[in-house]
Amino acid sequence: MTDKLLVLNDLRKNFGAIEALKGISFSIGKGEVVALLGDNGAGKSTLVKIISGGQQPTSGSMLFEGAEYQAKTPAEAKAAGIETVYQDLSLCTNVDVVGNFFMGREICRKIAGIPFLNERAMEDITSKALASAGTRIPSMRTKVEHLSGGQRQAIELNRFVHWGGKLVLLDEPFAALGVEQTRRGLDMIRHVADQGIGVIIITHIMQQAFQVADRIVVIRHGVVAGDVESSKTSPDAVIQMITGQSLSGAGPEGR
Ligand SMILES: Nc1ncnc2c1ncn2[C@@H]1O[C@H](COP(=O)(O)OP(=O)(O)O)[C@@H](O)[C@H]1O
Ligand SMILES: [Mg+2]
Repeated sequence: MTDKLLVLNDLRKNFGAIEALKGISFSIGKGEVVALLGDNGAGKSTLVKIISGGQQPTSGSMLFEGAEYQAKTPAEAKAAGIETVYQDLSLCTNVDVVGNFFMGREICRKIAGIPFLNERAMEDITSKALASAGTRIPSMRTKVEHLSGGQRQAIELNRFVHWGGKLVLLDEPFAALGVEQTRRGLDMIRHVADQGIGVIIITHIMQQAFQVADRIVVIRHGVVAGDVESSKTSPDAVIQMITGQSLSGAGPEGR
């Protein structure tokens, strides 16, 4: 099975009469960053939801680490090590950084038989994990509501890595971020992938795709219109895959 992390095999998804996905097949390796590109309505979000358990495919199959994989809920996907990281949505804003990092996984120690949260140990682990990823947050006791979008994203990504995540899905992760925060986010994606984690990132910004991705997969009208190593293609070629039109002005190819 070499180093394939996730293999998608002829995934189809219908919404009533709408065929959102018409047979999607591609794979992603460990430590690989795949940028998923395509026009509005191409099927990108639907595909990501199917991988992360938010929706079920109408037909088709997936292999994760060589075994049949089909998550019925996001919780099931998460337990397998697959998670969509949405900016903000999965953090409790009125809880501090440590509390969010350990949410549901708190370390307790017993004093005279009574369990107490081991706050010192949790704070240590959180600050080490964030520092090793190059994230600067002044205090681990800051409530998340006072942090920037980029810092929140960093907490979520590092939490995912720390708790054994294997494949992370990002749907337009930098849409609400500024230039500097986006640059840091892209660096962090590389850092995550360098630890052997697979990353699928949806972006409509071509430059980001070329900056961060090993491979670019283009979805058009529910099918894979291109699957190329980013070092072996060009933005113009990818635009052509997205639109189905050659830049020389020739008409749309038949599909
Ligand atoms: N829950 C849904 N019910 C009906 N149609 C849907 C639903 N979700 C997506 N679609 C349709 O499926 C197609 C693909 O949508 P989507 O995956 O959101 O595309 P993208 O993320 O590439 O913009 C579109 O035609 C969209 O209208
Ligand atoms: Mg979408």
